[in-house]
Amino acid sequence: MINLNFYQNGGIPVIFSSDQNKSELIDWAKNNTTFKAEQAEVYYLPNPESGGLILVGLNSEQDLTFDQLRYLGFKIYKTATANKIGEIEIIMPPIAEKCNIKVMKSIVEGMIQATYKFDKYLSKKDENPVKKFTVNYTPNHGSVETMQATFNKLKDVMDGVFLARDLVNQTSNYIYPETLAQAAIDSLQPLGVELAVYNYKQIKEIGMEAFLAVAQGSNKEPRLIVMKYQGNPDSDQFTGLVGKGITYDSGGYSIKPSDGMEDMHCDMSGAATVIGTLYALAKTEAKTNVYGIIAACENLISGTSFKVGDVINSLSGKTIEIGNTDAEGRVTLADAVYYATDNLKVNQVIDLATLTGACLVALGEEYTGVITNNNDYYQEFEAAAKKVGEKVWLLPNDKKFTELNKSKVADIKNVGGRLAGTITAGQFIGEFVANNIPWIHLDIAGTAYLSKENDFLPERATGVHVKTLTEFLAR
Ligand code: BES
Ligand code: ZN
Ligand code: ZN
Repeated sequence: MINLNFYQNGGIPVIFSSDQNKSELIDWAKNNTTFKAEQAEVYYLPNPESGGLILVGLNSEQDLTFDQLRYLGFKIYKTATANKIGEIEIIMPPIAEKCNIKVMKSIVEGMIQATYKFDKYLSKKDENPVKKFTVNYTPNHGSVETMQATFNKLKDVMDGVFLARDLVNQTSNYIYPETLAQAAIDSLQPLGVELAVYNYKQIKEIGMEAFLAVAQGSNKEPRLIVMKYQGNPDSDQFTGLVGKGITYDSGGYSIKPSDGMEDMHCDMSGAATVIGTLYALAKTEAKTNVYGIIAACENLISGTSFKVGDVINSLSGKTIEIGNTDAEGRVTLADAVYYATDNLKVNQVIDLATLTGACLVALGEEYTGVITNNNDYYQEFEAAAKKVGEKVWLLPNDKKFTELNKSKVADIKNVGGRLAGTITAGQFIGEFVANNIPWIHLDIAGTAYLSKENDFLPERATGVHVKTLTEFLAR
Protein backbone atom coordinates (compact mmCIF):
# COMPACT_ATOMS: atom_id res chain seq x y z
CA MET A 1 0.00 0.00 0.00
CA ILE A 2 1.27 3.46 -0.90
CA ASN A 3 0.28 6.53 1.00
CA LEU A 4 0.97 9.72 -0.95
CA ASN A 5 1.01 13.26 0.48
CA PHE A 6 1.59 16.34 -1.64
CA TYR A 7 3.64 19.34 -0.51
CA GLN A 8 4.50 17.69 2.80
CA ASN A 9 7.87 16.98 4.35
CA GLY A 10 9.31 14.08 6.29
CA GLY A 11 11.01 10.76 5.74
CA ILE A 12 14.31 9.79 4.13
CA PRO A 13 15.13 12.41 1.46
CA VAL A 14 15.43 11.25 -2.14
CA ILE A 15 18.12 13.28 -3.89
CA PHE A 16 18.18 13.49 -7.69
CA SER A 17 21.49 13.89 -9.48
CA SER A 18 19.98 16.57 -11.72
CA ASP A 19 19.12 18.79 -8.73
CA GLN A 20 21.48 21.76 -9.08
CA ASN A 21 21.13 22.61 -5.38
CA LYS A 22 22.49 19.20 -4.42
CA SER A 23 25.38 18.96 -6.88
CA GLU A 24 28.07 19.11 -4.17
CA LEU A 25 26.55 16.17 -2.37
CA ILE A 26 26.22 14.19 -5.61
CA ASP A 27 29.86 14.92 -6.50
CA TRP A 28 30.94 13.76 -3.07
CA ALA A 29 28.95 10.52 -3.46
CA LYS A 30 30.42 9.89 -6.89
CA ASN A 31 33.93 10.19 -5.46
CA ASN A 32 33.34 8.26 -2.26
CA THR A 33 30.74 5.56 -3.02
CA THR A 34 29.86 3.20 -5.86
CA PHE A 35 27.11 5.63 -6.95
CA LYS A 36 27.84 6.90 -10.46
CA ALA A 37 24.60 8.88 -11.04
CA GLU A 38 23.68 6.87 -14.10
CA GLN A 39 20.07 6.96 -15.32
CA ALA A 40 17.75 5.10 -12.88
CA GLU A 41 20.62 4.21 -10.57
CA VAL A 42 19.29 4.21 -7.01
CA TYR A 43 21.64 4.11 -4.04
CA TYR A 44 20.96 4.16 -0.33
CA LEU A 45 23.51 6.08 1.69
CA PRO A 46 22.92 5.18 5.35
CA ASN A 47 23.60 7.51 8.25
CA PRO A 48 23.01 6.32 11.82
CA GLU A 49 22.02 9.79 13.02
CA SER A 50 19.88 11.25 10.21
CA GLY A 51 18.68 7.92 8.81
CA GLY A 52 20.49 8.57 5.55
CA LEU A 53 19.66 9.52 1.98
CA ILE A 54 18.49 7.85 -1.19
CA LEU A 55 20.49 9.00 -4.20
CA VAL A 56 18.99 8.73 -7.65
CA GLY A 57 20.60 9.11 -11.07
CA LEU A 58 18.25 11.14 -13.21
CA ASN A 59 18.91 12.16 -16.76
CA SER A 60 17.08 15.48 -17.05
CA GLU A 61 17.72 15.69 -20.80
CA GLN A 62 15.10 15.64 -23.57
CA ASP A 63 15.41 11.91 -24.26
CA LEU A 64 14.22 10.87 -20.79
CA THR A 65 11.11 8.72 -21.17
CA PHE A 66 8.17 8.23 -18.86
CA ASP A 67 8.97 4.52 -18.82
CA GLN A 68 12.37 5.38 -17.39
CA LEU A 69 10.59 7.36 -14.69
CA ARG A 70 8.35 4.39 -13.95
CA TYR A 71 11.40 2.19 -13.59
CA LEU A 72 12.96 4.83 -11.35
CA GLY A 73 9.93 4.85 -9.05
CA PHE A 74 10.02 1.05 -9.01
CA LYS A 75 13.66 1.05 -7.93
CA ILE A 76 13.20 3.75 -5.30
CA TYR A 77 10.45 1.67 -3.68
CA LYS A 78 12.51 -1.55 -3.85
CA THR A 79 15.65 0.11 -2.46
CA ALA A 80 13.78 1.87 0.33
CA THR A 81 11.79 -1.15 1.51
CA ALA A 82 14.81 -3.45 1.25
CA ASN A 83 16.42 -1.10 3.77
CA LYS A 84 13.30 -1.09 5.95
CA ILE A 85 12.53 2.54 5.09
CA GLY A 86 8.80 3.23 5.32
CA GLU A 87 8.74 6.97 4.62
CA ILE A 88 10.51 9.00 1.96
CA GLU A 89 10.55 12.65 0.91
CA ILE A 90 10.71 13.61 -2.76
CA ILE A 91 11.25 17.20 -3.80
CA MET A 92 11.13 17.02 -7.57
CA PRO A 93 13.60 19.12 -9.57
CA PRO A 94 12.39 20.32 -13.00
CA ILE A 95 12.80 17.78 -15.79
CA ALA A 96 13.31 19.05 -19.33
CA GLU A 97 9.92 20.59 -20.12
CA LYS A 98 8.06 17.55 -18.84
CA CYS A 99 4.56 17.93 -17.41
CA ASN A 100 4.70 17.75 -13.62
CA ILE A 101 1.59 15.65 -13.37
CA LYS A 102 2.92 13.07 -15.80
CA VAL A 103 6.26 13.00 -13.98
CA MET A 104 4.52 12.34 -10.66
CA LYS A 105 2.18 9.79 -12.21
CA SER A 106 5.05 7.85 -13.78
CA ILE A 107 7.22 7.73 -10.66
CA VAL A 108 4.31 6.76 -8.44
CA GLU A 109 3.10 4.16 -10.93
CA GLY A 110 6.56 2.60 -10.76
CA MET A 111 6.24 2.43 -6.98
CA ILE A 112 2.82 0.79 -7.21
CA GLN A 113 4.21 -1.66 -9.80
CA ALA A 114 6.88 -2.59 -7.25
CA THR A 115 4.23 -3.64 -4.70
CA TYR A 116 2.81 -6.44 -6.88
CA LYS A 117 3.38 -10.02 -5.83
CA PHE A 118 1.60 -13.30 -6.37
CA ASP A 119 2.13 -15.69 -3.46
CA LYS A 120 -1.22 -17.46 -3.28
CA TYR A 121 0.36 -20.90 -3.45
CA LEU A 122 3.22 -20.33 -1.02
CA SER A 123 2.58 -21.54 2.52
CA LYS A 124 5.44 -19.33 3.69
CA LYS A 125 4.77 -15.80 2.45
CA ASP A 126 7.71 -13.46 1.99
CA GLU A 127 6.89 -10.74 4.52
CA ASN A 128 7.55 -7.18 3.41
CA PRO A 129 9.25 -5.46 6.38
CA VAL A 130 7.43 -2.26 5.41
CA LYS A 131 3.66 -2.54 5.80
CA LYS A 132 2.76 1.02 4.88
CA PHE A 133 4.90 3.09 2.54
CA THR A 134 4.53 6.86 2.81
CA VAL A 135 5.74 9.21 0.10
CA ASN A 136 5.85 12.93 0.85
CA TYR A 137 5.96 14.39 -2.63
CA THR A 138 6.57 17.98 -3.64
CA PRO A 139 6.17 18.48 -7.39
CA ASN A 140 8.03 21.19 -9.23
CA HIS A 141 4.64 22.84 -9.43
CA GLY A 142 0.97 21.86 -9.80
CA SER A 143 -2.15 21.98 -7.64
CA VAL A 144 -2.83 19.47 -4.89
CA GLU A 145 -6.30 18.80 -6.35
CA THR A 146 -5.09 17.73 -9.79
CA MET A 147 -2.24 15.72 -8.29
CA GLN A 148 -4.64 13.97 -5.90
CA ALA A 149 -7.21 13.24 -8.63
CA THR A 150 -4.47 11.81 -10.87
CA PHE A 151 -3.20 9.61 -8.05
CA ASN A 152 -6.68 8.31 -7.21
CA LYS A 153 -7.31 7.36 -10.83
CA LEU A 154 -3.90 5.77 -11.14
CA LYS A 155 -4.61 3.56 -8.11
CA ASP A 156 -7.90 2.38 -9.61
CA VAL A 157 -6.31 1.55 -12.97
CA MET A 158 -3.46 -0.31 -11.26
CA ASP A 159 -6.02 -2.30 -9.27
CA GLY A 160 -7.47 -3.34 -12.64
CA VAL A 161 -4.00 -4.34 -13.84
CA PHE A 162 -3.36 -6.36 -10.66
CA LEU A 163 -6.77 -8.03 -10.92
CA ALA A 164 -5.89 -9.17 -14.45
CA ARG A 165 -2.49 -10.44 -13.24
CA ASP A 166 -4.01 -12.40 -10.36
CA LEU A 167 -6.47 -14.10 -12.72
CA VAL A 168 -3.72 -15.11 -15.14
CA ASN A 169 -1.24 -16.23 -12.47
CA GLN A 170 -3.73 -18.68 -11.00
CA THR A 171 -3.33 -22.12 -12.54
CA SER A 172 -6.00 -23.99 -14.46
CA ASN A 173 -7.11 -26.09 -11.48
CA TYR A 174 -8.20 -22.82 -9.85
CA ILE A 175 -9.31 -20.78 -12.86
CA TYR A 176 -11.54 -22.63 -15.31
CA PRO A 177 -14.61 -21.32 -17.15
CA GLU A 178 -16.97 -21.49 -14.17
CA THR A 179 -14.55 -19.90 -11.69
CA LEU A 180 -13.44 -17.28 -14.23
CA ALA A 181 -17.07 -16.26 -14.63
CA GLN A 182 -17.49 -16.16 -10.85
CA ALA A 183 -14.36 -14.00 -10.51
CA ALA A 184 -15.79 -11.57 -13.07
CA ILE A 185 -19.06 -11.41 -11.14
CA ASP A 186 -17.30 -10.94 -7.79
CA SER A 187 -15.10 -8.10 -8.96
CA LEU A 188 -17.43 -6.29 -11.37
CA GLN A 189 -20.98 -6.63 -10.03
CA PRO A 190 -20.30 -4.47 -6.92
CA LEU A 191 -19.20 -1.68 -9.29
CA GLY A 192 -22.48 -1.69 -11.19
CA VAL A 193 -21.33 -3.70 -14.21
CA GLU A 194 -24.13 -5.94 -15.53
CA LEU A 195 -23.15 -9.55 -16.14
CA ALA A 196 -24.78 -12.42 -17.97
CA VAL A 197 -23.14 -15.85 -17.82
CA TYR A 198 -24.34 -18.53 -20.26
CA ASN A 199 -23.82 -22.27 -19.72
CA TYR A 200 -23.37 -25.04 -22.30
CA LYS A 201 -27.06 -25.40 -23.10
CA GLN A 202 -27.54 -21.67 -23.55
CA ILE A 203 -24.40 -21.33 -25.70
CA LYS A 204 -25.77 -24.13 -27.86
CA GLU A 205 -29.08 -22.30 -28.20
CA ILE A 206 -27.27 -19.13 -29.27
CA GLY A 207 -25.59 -21.22 -31.96
CA MET A 208 -21.91 -20.83 -31.09
CA GLU A 209 -20.88 -24.10 -32.76
CA ALA A 210 -17.24 -23.11 -33.28
CA PHE A 211 -16.78 -22.15 -29.63
CA LEU A 212 -18.39 -25.42 -28.54
CA ALA A 213 -16.18 -27.48 -30.89
CA VAL A 214 -13.15 -26.32 -28.90
CA ALA A 215 -14.93 -26.71 -25.56
CA GLN A 216 -16.24 -30.23 -26.17
CA GLY A 217 -13.02 -32.06 -25.22
CA SER A 218 -13.19 -31.01 -21.59
CA ASN A 219 -15.58 -32.13 -18.88
CA LYS A 220 -15.43 -28.66 -17.42
CA GLU A 221 -18.38 -26.83 -18.97
CA PRO A 222 -17.70 -23.72 -21.06
CA ARG A 223 -19.08 -20.32 -20.15
CA LEU A 224 -19.95 -17.32 -22.29
CA ILE A 225 -19.40 -14.26 -20.12
CA VAL A 226 -21.02 -11.01 -21.24
CA MET A 227 -20.35 -7.85 -19.27
CA LYS A 228 -21.97 -4.47 -19.82
CA TYR A 229 -20.66 -1.18 -18.51
CA GLN A 230 -22.70 1.88 -19.38
CA GLY A 231 -20.83 4.93 -18.11
CA ASN A 232 -22.37 7.23 -20.69
CA PRO A 233 -26.14 6.70 -20.74
CA ASP A 234 -26.57 9.66 -23.14
CA SER A 235 -24.95 7.62 -25.88
CA ASP A 236 -26.02 4.39 -27.54
CA GLN A 237 -22.52 3.74 -28.89
CA PHE A 238 -20.72 0.69 -27.47
CA THR A 239 -17.22 -0.66 -27.86
CA GLY A 240 -16.86 -4.44 -27.73
CA LEU A 241 -13.85 -5.85 -25.89
CA VAL A 242 -13.39 -9.51 -26.69
CA GLY A 243 -10.80 -11.55 -24.77
CA LYS A 244 -9.48 -15.02 -25.60
CA GLY A 245 -10.56 -17.15 -22.66
CA ILE A 246 -8.84 -20.51 -23.06
CA THR A 247 -8.30 -21.37 -19.38
CA TYR A 248 -5.94 -24.15 -20.44
CA ASP A 249 -4.46 -24.93 -23.84
CA SER A 250 -2.97 -28.42 -24.18
CA GLY A 251 -3.09 -28.06 -27.96
CA GLY A 252 -5.71 -30.81 -28.19
CA TYR A 253 -4.89 -33.63 -30.66
CA SER A 254 -2.29 -31.30 -32.19
CA ILE A 255 -0.72 -31.68 -28.75
CA LYS A 256 1.91 -29.28 -27.45
CA PRO A 257 5.27 -30.54 -26.15
CA SER A 258 5.13 -30.56 -22.33
CA ASP A 259 7.41 -27.56 -21.81
CA GLY A 260 5.18 -25.58 -24.18
CA MET A 261 2.16 -26.59 -22.11
CA GLU A 262 3.47 -25.64 -18.69
CA ASP A 263 2.32 -22.02 -18.74
CA MET A 264 -0.83 -22.53 -20.78
CA HIS A 265 -3.10 -21.44 -17.93
CA CYS A 266 -2.05 -18.01 -19.25
CA ASP A 267 -4.13 -18.55 -22.40
CA MET A 268 -6.99 -16.56 -20.86
CA SER A 269 -4.86 -13.41 -20.56
CA GLY A 270 -7.03 -11.60 -23.11
CA ALA A 271 -10.08 -12.38 -20.98
CA ALA A 272 -8.27 -11.19 -17.85
CA THR A 273 -7.39 -7.90 -19.52
CA VAL A 274 -11.04 -7.41 -20.49
CA ILE A 275 -12.14 -7.99 -16.88
CA GLY A 276 -9.36 -5.76 -15.52
CA THR A 277 -10.26 -2.99 -17.97
CA LEU A 278 -13.94 -3.09 -17.10
CA TYR A 279 -12.95 -2.95 -13.44
CA ALA A 280 -10.80 0.15 -14.02
CA LEU A 281 -13.43 1.87 -16.19
CA ALA A 282 -16.20 1.23 -13.67
CA LYS A 283 -14.06 2.19 -10.68
CA THR A 284 -13.04 5.49 -12.30
CA GLU A 285 -16.62 6.04 -13.57
CA ALA A 286 -15.32 6.58 -17.10
CA LYS A 287 -17.83 8.20 -19.43
CA THR A 288 -17.98 5.44 -22.00
CA ASN A 289 -20.01 2.34 -22.91
CA VAL A 290 -18.37 -1.05 -23.20
CA TYR A 291 -19.40 -4.66 -23.67
CA GLY A 292 -16.90 -7.29 -22.51
CA ILE A 293 -17.25 -10.71 -24.17
CA ILE A 294 -15.40 -13.86 -23.13
CA ALA A 295 -15.88 -17.34 -24.59
CA ALA A 296 -14.22 -19.38 -21.84
CA CYS A 297 -13.28 -23.04 -22.22
CA GLU A 298 -10.43 -25.54 -22.02
CA ASN A 299 -8.66 -27.10 -25.01
CA LEU A 300 -8.11 -30.74 -23.98
CA ILE A 301 -7.82 -34.25 -25.37
CA SER A 302 -10.57 -36.81 -24.83
CA GLY A 303 -13.02 -39.01 -26.70
CA THR A 304 -15.23 -36.01 -27.26
CA SER A 305 -12.56 -33.56 -28.50
CA PHE A 306 -12.66 -31.93 -31.89
CA LYS A 307 -10.13 -33.47 -34.24
CA VAL A 308 -7.71 -32.46 -36.96
CA GLY A 309 -9.59 -32.49 -40.25
CA ASP A 310 -13.01 -31.83 -38.72
CA VAL A 311 -15.24 -29.33 -40.46
CA ILE A 312 -17.33 -27.35 -38.01
CA ASN A 313 -20.03 -24.72 -38.17
CA SER A 314 -19.97 -21.29 -36.55
CA LEU A 315 -22.37 -18.63 -35.26
CA SER A 316 -21.82 -16.61 -38.44
CA GLY A 317 -22.81 -19.58 -40.61
CA LYS A 318 -19.30 -19.83 -42.09
CA THR A 319 -17.88 -23.35 -41.97
CA ILE A 320 -14.36 -23.90 -40.64
CA GLU A 321 -11.90 -26.66 -41.49
CA ILE A 322 -9.75 -27.56 -38.48
CA GLY A 323 -6.22 -27.91 -39.82
CA ASN A 324 -4.73 -27.83 -36.32
CA THR A 325 -6.52 -28.15 -32.97
CA ASP A 326 -3.83 -26.00 -31.34
CA ALA A 327 -5.07 -23.02 -33.35
CA GLU A 328 -8.12 -23.07 -31.07
CA GLY A 329 -8.14 -19.45 -29.91
CA ARG A 330 -9.16 -18.03 -33.25
CA VAL A 331 -11.97 -20.61 -33.47
CA THR A 332 -13.51 -19.50 -30.16
CA LEU A 333 -12.88 -15.85 -31.05
CA ALA A 334 -14.64 -16.29 -34.39
CA ASP A 335 -17.87 -16.83 -32.48
CA ALA A 336 -17.15 -14.33 -29.72
CA VAL A 337 -16.33 -11.54 -32.18
CA TYR A 338 -19.35 -12.39 -34.32
CA TYR A 339 -21.53 -12.38 -31.21
CA ALA A 340 -20.19 -8.91 -30.26
CA THR A 341 -20.59 -7.43 -33.71
CA ASP A 342 -23.81 -9.11 -34.87
CA ASN A 343 -25.84 -10.06 -31.77
CA LEU A 344 -24.77 -7.13 -29.56
CA LYS A 345 -24.23 -4.75 -32.49
CA VAL A 346 -21.26 -2.93 -30.95
CA ASN A 347 -19.96 0.05 -32.94
CA GLN A 348 -16.29 -0.92 -32.85
CA VAL A 349 -14.52 -3.98 -31.57
CA ILE A 350 -11.13 -4.81 -30.06
CA ASP A 351 -10.01 -8.36 -29.45
CA LEU A 352 -7.09 -9.45 -27.29
CA ALA A 353 -5.55 -12.90 -27.51
CA THR A 354 -2.47 -14.91 -26.59
CA LEU A 355 -2.85 -16.16 -30.13
CA THR A 356 0.40 -17.16 -31.79
CA GLY A 357 3.88 -18.36 -30.90
CA ALA A 358 4.86 -16.62 -34.14
CA CYS A 359 4.18 -13.27 -32.48
CA LEU A 360 6.76 -14.10 -29.80
CA VAL A 361 9.26 -14.98 -32.51
CA ALA A 362 8.63 -11.71 -34.36
CA LEU A 363 8.24 -9.18 -31.55
CA GLY A 364 9.53 -10.95 -28.44
CA GLU A 365 8.07 -10.11 -25.05
CA GLU A 366 8.37 -6.40 -25.81
CA TYR A 367 5.68 -5.56 -28.39
CA THR A 368 2.07 -6.60 -28.92
CA GLY A 369 1.35 -7.45 -32.57
CA VAL A 370 -1.60 -5.65 -34.14
CA ILE A 371 -3.92 -6.16 -37.11
CA THR A 372 -6.65 -3.65 -37.97
CA ASN A 373 -9.18 -2.90 -40.69
CA ASN A 374 -9.25 0.82 -39.88
CA ASN A 375 -6.06 2.87 -39.67
CA ASP A 376 -7.69 6.01 -38.25
CA TYR A 377 -9.16 4.04 -35.38
CA TYR A 378 -5.82 2.35 -34.78
CA GLN A 379 -3.94 5.66 -34.76
CA GLU A 380 -6.01 6.79 -31.77
CA PHE A 381 -5.43 3.48 -30.03
CA GLU A 382 -1.71 3.67 -30.65
CA ALA A 383 -1.57 7.19 -29.18
CA ALA A 384 -3.22 5.89 -25.98
CA ALA A 385 -0.75 2.98 -25.81
CA LYS A 386 2.15 5.37 -26.19
CA LYS A 387 0.81 7.61 -23.46
CA VAL A 388 0.77 4.81 -20.89
CA GLY A 389 3.95 3.13 -22.12
CA GLU A 390 2.62 -0.14 -23.56
CA LYS A 391 4.30 -1.03 -26.85
CA VAL A 392 2.25 -2.06 -29.88
CA TRP A 393 3.33 -2.77 -33.46
CA LEU A 394 1.06 -2.72 -36.49
CA LEU A 395 1.42 -5.63 -38.94
CA PRO A 396 0.26 -5.42 -42.57
CA ASN A 397 -3.34 -6.49 -43.09
CA ASP A 398 -2.60 -7.27 -46.73
CA LYS A 399 -5.26 -9.22 -48.60
CA LYS A 400 -2.51 -11.36 -50.14
CA PHE A 401 -2.11 -13.13 -46.78
CA THR A 402 -5.83 -13.90 -46.59
CA GLU A 403 -5.43 -16.47 -49.37
CA LEU A 404 -3.37 -18.60 -46.99
CA ASN A 405 -6.45 -19.35 -44.86
CA LYS A 406 -8.31 -20.87 -47.83
CA SER A 407 -9.84 -24.32 -47.46
CA LYS A 408 -10.92 -26.72 -50.17
CA VAL A 409 -13.65 -28.32 -48.07
CA ALA A 410 -14.96 -25.44 -45.94
CA ASP A 411 -15.39 -21.67 -46.16
CA ILE A 412 -12.17 -21.06 -44.26
CA LYS A 413 -9.36 -23.00 -42.56
CA ASN A 414 -8.09 -22.28 -39.03
CA VAL A 415 -4.42 -22.37 -40.04
CA GLY A 416 -2.61 -20.56 -42.81
CA GLY A 417 0.66 -22.47 -42.84
CA ARG A 418 4.14 -21.59 -41.65
CA LEU A 419 4.40 -18.13 -43.15
CA ALA A 420 3.12 -14.91 -41.54
CA GLY A 421 1.43 -16.85 -38.73
CA THR A 422 0.46 -13.85 -36.63
CA ILE A 423 -1.09 -12.07 -39.60
CA THR A 424 -3.10 -15.02 -40.91
CA ALA A 425 -4.35 -15.75 -37.37
CA GLY A 426 -5.51 -12.16 -36.96
CA GLN A 427 -7.08 -12.10 -40.40
CA PHE A 428 -8.98 -15.29 -39.61
CA ILE A 429 -10.65 -13.45 -36.71
CA GLY A 430 -11.25 -10.44 -38.97
CA GLU A 431 -13.43 -12.65 -41.18
CA PHE A 432 -15.94 -12.82 -38.32
CA VAL A 433 -16.33 -9.08 -37.74
CA ALA A 434 -19.91 -8.34 -38.83
CA ASN A 435 -21.04 -5.06 -40.43
CA ASN A 436 -17.47 -4.07 -41.35
CA ILE A 437 -17.09 -1.96 -38.19
CA PRO A 438 -13.67 -0.68 -37.01
CA TRP A 439 -11.69 -3.55 -35.53
CA ILE A 440 -8.34 -3.91 -33.77
CA HIS A 441 -6.79 -7.29 -33.03
CA LEU A 442 -4.07 -7.47 -30.38
CA ASP A 443 -1.82 -10.55 -30.26
CA ILE A 444 -0.50 -10.51 -26.69
CA ALA A 445 1.20 -13.95 -26.76
CA GLY A 446 4.55 -12.29 -25.99
CA THR A 447 3.49 -9.42 -23.75
CA ALA A 448 0.85 -10.93 -21.45
CA TYR A 449 3.11 -13.42 -19.69
CA LEU A 450 6.83 -12.87 -19.27
CA SER A 451 9.55 -15.49 -18.90
CA LYS A 452 11.49 -13.01 -16.76
CA GLU A 453 11.06 -9.63 -15.07
CA ASN A 454 11.31 -6.70 -17.52
CA ASP A 455 12.15 -3.44 -15.71
CA PHE A 456 9.05 -2.66 -13.64
CA LEU A 457 7.04 -5.53 -15.14
CA PRO A 458 7.06 -8.78 -13.16
CA GLU A 459 7.83 -12.29 -14.28
CA ARG A 460 4.65 -14.12 -15.44
CA ALA A 461 1.37 -12.21 -15.79
CA THR A 462 1.58 -8.52 -16.73
CA GLY A 463 -2.06 -7.49 -17.16
CA VAL A 464 -0.94 -5.89 -20.42
CA HIS A 465 -3.24 -3.31 -22.05
CA VAL A 466 -5.53 -2.64 -19.10
CA LYS A 467 -3.74 0.71 -18.95
CA THR A 468 -3.99 1.34 -22.71
CA LEU A 469 -7.64 0.35 -23.00
CA THR A 470 -8.68 2.38 -19.98
CA GLU A 471 -6.88 5.41 -21.39
CA PHE A 472 -8.26 4.83 -24.89
CA LEU A 473 -11.88 4.20 -23.95
CA ALA A 474 -12.09 7.03 -21.41
CA ARG A 475 -10.69 9.55 -23.92
N1 BES B 1 -2.04 -20.32 -27.00
C1 BES B 1 -1.23 -20.57 -28.11
C2 BES B 1 -0.27 -19.44 -28.45
C3 BES B 1 0.77 -19.09 -27.42
C4 BES B 1 2.06 -19.58 -27.54
C5 BES B 1 0.48 -18.21 -26.40
C6 BES B 1 3.00 -19.23 -26.62
C7 BES B 1 1.45 -17.87 -25.48
C8 BES B 1 2.72 -18.36 -25.59
C9 BES B 1 -2.10 -20.83 -29.36
O1 BES B 1 -3.34 -21.38 -29.14
C10 BES B 1 -1.35 -21.73 -30.26
O2 BES B 1 -1.03 -22.80 -29.83
N2 BES B 1 -1.06 -21.29 -31.48
C11 BES B 1 -0.35 -22.08 -32.42
C12 BES B 1 -0.94 -21.82 -33.77
C13 BES B 1 -0.43 -22.74 -34.86
C14 BES B 1 -0.92 -24.15 -34.61
C15 BES B 1 -0.90 -22.25 -36.19
C16 BES B 1 1.11 -21.67 -32.41
O3 BES B 1 1.41 -20.49 -32.29
O4 BES B 1 1.96 -22.56 -32.45
ZN1 ZN C 1 -3.31 -23.50 -29.03
ZN1 ZN D 1 -4.17 -21.01 -27.23
